[in-house]
Amino acid sequence: MSERKIHKTQVAIMGAGPAGLMLSHLLFRAGIENTVVEIRSRDSISRTIRAGILEAGSVDLLVDSGVDNVLRNGHEHEGTEFRVNGEGHRIDFKGLTGNSVWLYPQNDVFDDLAAQREADGGDVRYSCSGTQVSDLTGTPKVFFTDADGQDWELRAEILVGADGSRSLCRGAVPAAERTWHFNEYPFAWFGILAEAPRSAPELIYANSAHGFALISQRTDAVQRMYFQCDPATNLAGWTDEQIWEQLRVRVNGNGFELKEGPVIDKVVLPFRSFVHTPMRHGNLFLAGDAAHTVPPTGAKGLNLALHDVKLLFESLDSYFSTGSSALLDTYSDRALDRVWKAQYFSYWMTTLLHTVPTEPNHDFFRARQIGELRSLLESEHGRAYIAECYTGWQGK
Ligand code: PHB
Repeated sequence: MSERKIHKTQVAIMGAGPAGLMLSHLLFRAGIENTVVEIRSRDSISRTIRAGILEAGSVDLLVDSGVDNVLRNGHEHEGTEFRVNGEGHRIDFKGLTGNSVWLYPQNDVFDDLAAQREADGGDVRYSCSGTQVSDLTGTPKVFFTDADGQDWELRAEILVGADGSRSLCRGAVPAAERTWHFNEYPFAWFGILAEAPRSAPELIYANSAHGFALISQRTDAVQRMYFQCDPATNLAGWTDEQIWEQLRVRVNGNGFELKEGPVIDKVVLPFRSFVHTPMRHGNLFLAGDAAHTVPPTGAKGLNLALHDVKLLFESLDSYFSTGSSALLDTYSDRALDRVWKAQYFSYWMTTLLHTVPTEPNHDFFRARQIGELRSLLESEHGRAYIAECYTGWQGK
């Protein structure tokens, strides 16, 4: 057993996903010392396939801080298509709100931030084990063993839990000091990567009697698609032909046909809504998935995490430069304001587009849902409302 070493820093960050690394990068630029502790390897985070849509505000946060690959390798999407029973309705984000979104996968956001932190000599410890946190209301401490087997005690003024949906930090908050808000849905998404060209210039969100489907993209040669499935679905039982058949019946029609190809990755994504309140306990601040999970329908997960980080960075910068905790004291309320808007939008878009097999009054539910979609999509105000939420409530 090696002797435990002590390291002191201003901010300890648990988790080197996009939220943790973005915060570490912003703090570094402001001259605030920080250390990031992560249990996974850099390679395994880089290979984790997540969502792919960035709001304009998320792109600005990256680009303004000098991480600008998104401008070269991402694709700006000025709108999206809602398909209802095979009939397409375009939502013109740019025309309706002046804003667009960018298709740029989360893995690429991670790779860009990890490379930048490395280039700047950032203290990011991947592949740690035995992590524990303590003294959250005093001088927070993180205990861990690094990738070389060295034991460490990290002492910080502030601890940030950006350690994802299975957050160790969140679990360290006493039950009496927090509330967990939780909702589970009776369906999941079957997600695939397929070697095929793009089927359409923009994303397609499809509502059909067979259930929901989403046609997204990755590169010129690889596409990302999802269709609604039973949460208990066994991936191994599905052939490529069965997958394409599900996508065809939900999306094709009126002269539109999906471009098909070999399926190279399959995953089942459960649907949950979760919020931990408040997002602060003493000197522990939570950010991103550690504090909240949204169903993926509205593409809000990464965007919310980056928004938390923006607020938290401004609050920490103010604290370390002036000694005033005024912004830190309101961080949780300000972050939760957007979190609940995104919870609502993700829930609403989910119920708008998915069929609910367990719904006892299924025929009424489905006809009412089509009525809701038609009234929204035929109205400029309805489309503008969707566009405003999807592009991220700019300026709010
Ligand atoms: C994705 O590209 O993975 C993606 C896009 C939009 C969503 C969810 C996932 O709403």
